Amino acid sequence: MTYALLTPGTPTPTDPLAYFGPMVAPRTAPGVEQRPYELFDLDPVTPTIGAEVSGIRLGADLPDEVIAELDRALLEWKVLFFRDQDISRDDHRGFAARWGELEQHPFFKYTQPGQSDADVATLAKDATAAGTENIWHNDVTWHTRPSRAAVLRAVEIPPVGGDTLWADTGPAYDLLPEDMREKLDGLTAEHDWIHSFGKGMDPADVERLRPHFPPAIHPVVRVIPETGRKVLFVNVAFTRRILGMSEDESNALLRTLYRHIMRPELQVRLRWRKNTVAMWDNRICQHYASSDYHPARRVMERISIVGERPAGVTAD
Ligand SMILES: [Fe+2]
Repeated sequence: MTYALLTPGTPTPTDPLAYFGPMVAPRTAPGVEQRPYELFDLDPVTPTIGAEVSGIRLGADLPDEVIAELDRALLEWKVLFFRDQDISRDDHRGFAARWGELEQHPFFKYTQPGQSDADVATLAKDATAAGTENIWHNDVTWHTRPSRAAVLRAVEIPPVGGDTLWADTGPAYDLLPEDMREKLDGLTAEHDWIHSFGKGMDPADVERLRPHFPPAIHPVVRVIPETGRKVLFVNVAFTRRILGMSEDESNALLRTLYRHIMRPELQVRLRWRKNTVAMWDNRICQHYASSDYHPARRVMERISIVGERPAGVTAD
């Protein structure tokens, strides 16, 4: 089965999916009132995704009104960038905790028993450990409750390269043809870690972890409770198949959606500096860490916030 995407323009003769022309979609859900930000400056980087926030220092002690306005900005812009945040791990942790319970990586208690401080994950890449996060994904969608959000701080960055990209899955959904959206609304997909994390693990560990982490089933179209926004919730790293379809049909549909999500109009790209912080809503955007800097060193610290069970279009 093939799918035509709703985009004005002309497919090229050699590739029916290579279309061109305007790709414009609303930044927020219908009915969301556009209000100015009063407690910090916000400078958009693209029309729908990514904004640089200035005028605040991140920490646990930010006033409730600032957190509430940042929360609104996060829903509206999906990923926020904060420059020059020379903050401590406690500041980092305290800031993230304003959004809810901090997440330990679900595997952690099984792979590193007895170790604490697992809520701050240090992601260090160098000549001996190349970056492998250059695949589009939402974090831990193979879990029944994937992360709500993440706060990532650049500790050490290469002279050039190592950018991170985010893709806006609300407009990605909106830009699909109506009949395709209707079809997707009723579908669910299986997400699994075996084909990504599992590849680099000792088979004995895979066997040990498997009973704790069976495949998770999530709606293909996720509805964000705060706004009612529908977003595409399948990703090339973890989604294994769409239920109720043959493998060929599922693969063809997923490939079409993945390719759609990779359109530059749906993306923002961040060039990091030391002490840049990015905070993203892991429910409404995907991310990709460009792995173009090996063997240079890149060190990041990430804290994730526990999320809810994804809701679909029809309540179950
Ligand atoms: Fe990630």
